[in-house]
Amino acid sequence: MINMSENKIFTFDYSFPTRIIFGRNSLEKTGEVSHEFGKKALIVTTKGGSMRRYGYLDKLIRSLEKNNIRYFIFDKVSTNPTTIIAKEASDIVVKEECDFVIGLGGGSAIDVAKIAAASSVTNIHPREYTLGIREIDDALPIVAIPTTHGTGTEVNRYAVLTDPETNAKRGIVSKKIYPRISILDPMLTLTLPTKLTAATIIDALSHAIESYVKNNATRLSMLYSEEAIIKIFRFGPHVMQNPDNINLRENLLWASMCAGKSIDINGTTMCHGLEHPISALFNVHHGEGLATLLLPWIKYTLPAIKERLGRLALLLGISGSDNQELSYAFVKYLADLLISMNLNFKLRDFGIKEKHIDLLVENAISFMRYNLDSNPIPASRIDIKKIYLKAL
Ligand SMILES: [Fe+2]
Repeated sequence: MINMSENKIFTFDYSFPTRIIFGRNSLEKTGEVSHEFGKKALIVTTKGGSMRRYGYLDKLIRSLEKNNIRYFIFDKVSTNPTTIIAKEASDIVVKEECDFVIGLGGGSAIDVAKIAAASSVTNIHPREYTLGIREIDDALPIVAIPTTHGTGTEVNRYAVLTDPETNAKRGIVSKKIYPRISILDPMLTLTLPTKLTAATIIDALSHAIESYVKNNATRLSMLYSEEAIIKIFRFGPHVMQNPDNINLRENLLWASMCAGKSIDINGTTMCHGLEHPISALFNVHHGEGLATLLLPWIKYTLPAIKERLGRLALLLGISGSDNQELSYAFVKYLADLLISMNLNFKLRDFGIKEKHIDLLVENAISFMRYNLDSNPIPASRIDIKKIYLKAL
């Protein structure tokens, strides 16, 4: 029997301007493809020197120099970047008279690059964007070079910052911060430590599943999600044992890009909405925070998404007699994946105790309203608390 109610997924209107250069050693092309943006770049990258240690920064610099592009390096970005760091980067763009901004690293470095590119021309503090007081109406060209396979920011219009004054960790949304060029070089993900490998994969998986089950999913977003989910289930556990396997890394970078596209089209939902307070208040890695919530969130939402999860189960080769059986089997498959990737975390593993739950609930309600309301089953304050308690 064909379900005609799913016809609405064929309605969409979507375009995006990012040139994607995907391939091994594509980092070396950066200078050649971005010289049209100007004579000087700000390179925004990760704190701690890993990009230099692995040789990525040197390769990038050589590529810029070969194309007569000068640069300034801002290497102060750590996980859960703040509006203060983004402001600092933005001030350097102005002081150094940079023409464009390159983000090299994980999602944090790229997101700071995006907001520095905007704030430096609009002269608006990143805090105002994060709190939704102002919208971005201009930005310098952005070049994104991810070294993880999770965030998807390299192909979408989001940047996530935390405002330390309010503890709001929110996504800033603007078409002006689409990267003009995204260099997806799987060689750069070979050095990702096991823990980060797992955490970033789960971020991508969560993007793909959340986008897939939302009411506003379209056939286009679902196509990206399906591709990401199939690849992550297939290759995610293997990369834990074979971190040096470039074929696995390539597939996971592709999967993460696909998941980044799916949320560009229709966004994340409550799982991300409940995670942001965890990483904002307790500085937990975003992917590990999501790992604590994925199962409690999906079980809460299950009554409304059996058909979509059933469809995913079939794509993964799981058998079952109806959507009820298939959707439960999918949840079990997901639980097994988390275990196989050493991601069966609980909130207590990060020092979060029952006394902190109300703080998380308040933060989610104050700052993540859109995500909460867009869940296929919206959650009340009591429901949210129950989900956090299940994740505890
Ligand atoms: Fe995410």
